[in-house]
Amino acid sequence: MTSFMPPAQRIWWKVPVGRQEIVWILIALVWCLIMFFMMPYWHVYGKQNISNEAYQTTPAKYQAKVQAMIDKYKVREETAQKIPVVAPPAGSDVYLLARLWQWYPMLELEKDKSYRLHISSMDWNHGFSLQPVNINMQIVPGYEMVVTVTPDKSGEYTIVCNEYCGIMHHTMLGKIWVK
Ligand code: CUA
Repeated sequence: MTSFMPPAQRIWWKVPVGRQEIVWILIALVWCLIMFFMMPYWHVYGKQNISNEAYQTTPAKYQAKVQAMIDKYKVREETAQKIPVVAPPAGSDVYLLARLWQWYPMLELEKDKSYRLHISSMDWNHGFSLQPVNINMQIVPGYEMVVTVTPDKSGEYTIVCNEYCGIMHHTMLGKIWVK
């Protein structure tokens, strides 16, 4: 029988469901439930998508906050593009901005101290991916994401943009040093 032919029995919904079909429905249902409960489970135990807050802002307002922090706590510059490196005091608000194709500025944080890390975009969607710890966040213009971070391992961390944002997307790298 093909789907072009009318069903052999007109009241087809009274035909009992085949065993195979029931098995597949059950497998699909169990898998749906596993995937569903993985969302809250992974949020708590995966340490990948950390809890964040989001506030409305504008690129101009946000950029002013970033600049104010740089003016206060800049310690040096890095790379050929002279990106400022900022060492804000422990416990303070730290502002990072994403734009084509930069994470700006670079940060120097102290180990085992907590910071309020703010991130926003100046233009469009970027993906904040902190390596090698693999923390991920979507960064969109008009919204300021805030996370409380307490780096517990010293070292050099790289911020990678993991949301395609144009021709130089692959060069959009940032740095955080933990001392
Ligand atoms: Cu920013 Cu890709």
